[in-house]
Amino acid sequence: MVSETIDRNDRFRGILDRLATKSIDDYYNPYRLFEWPDRLDEDMWWMSPELTTTYGTKWAETLTPQQLHTLSKHESINFYSLNVHGIRELLIEVVGRIHTAGFETPSEFFHHFIGEENEHMWFFAEFCLRYGGRIYRQPAGAEGAAPSPKIQSLLVFARILIFEELVDHFNSAMAVDERLHETIRGINRIHHQDESRHIAFGRELVDLLHQDLRQTATEQELDDISAYLRRYMKHSFDSLYHPQVYRDAGLEQPHELRRALMESPARAEAEQRTFRKTAKYLERTGLIR
Ligand SMILES: [Fe+2]
Ligand SMILES: [Fe+2]
Repeated sequence: MVSETIDRNDRFRGILDRLATKSIDDYYNPYRLFEWPDRLDEDMWWMSPELTTTYGTKWAETLTPQQLHTLSKHESINFYSLNVHGIRELLIEVVGRIHTAGFETPSEFFHHFIGEENEHMWFFAEFCLRYGGRIYRQPAGAEGAAPSPKIQSLLVFARILIFEELVDHFNSAMAVDERLHETIRGINRIHHQDESRHIAFGRELVDLLHQDLRQTATEQELDDISAYLRRYMKHSFDSLYHPQVYRDAGLEQPHELRRALMESPARAEAEQRTFRKTAKYLERTGLIR
């Protein structure tokens, strides 16, 4: 068991070195990188239509093209707002662990992670404020009972990974979608580039934390972790459906519309597509049982 842990740690160190070198090679100045036109045309797709919440529902047929464009604008502002809030939460957690006991090995990479996430938060917030005039608020997630520090750390990094994989599903599609404005594609492309390192890192770290925890955790604790992660995925996907977005897009009865969209079969399919790779990883590693 000990030698297996050492092998795993050697592998982890090798991956961290490679990712840190990539971070240094790919380093850019976010404040100079993007073109920020004063305004973007309202009547265009702001988000790939396949990623919008009406896709595959009757509303995609009944709303006018202009209404769908306006909705895609507000949904995109909500998506970037989600990023701003998600990044703030994950930065708090990573800053709280860097150079503390148990995190000696990943601390060097944490520096890249923290620096890059601060920059991501800046360009997402800039986009929201410049083109949407606001950052959408998010309802607070339900807080459960506080488990042991080891379980807390595992859940923190599993949440970060799930959140980054959700975002990356959107980023990687929008980065290459020629229907979208170059500024929009650029933000998605750059974020996807940085996040592929964060996701590779997160998958290794979460697996290691889980292996470590398994040596001492009870079956009940492992079941609770599994249930928690399932709830977290669902909750993350829910946040794409924001009542204020439907209201800002000028649609009637935004709360009823939100509920109907969330209950539609298209949502279940979209959620499955978004988390296909994530769910596979969580099942393979035994995090989800
Ligand atoms: Fe990011
Ligand atoms: Fe990230």
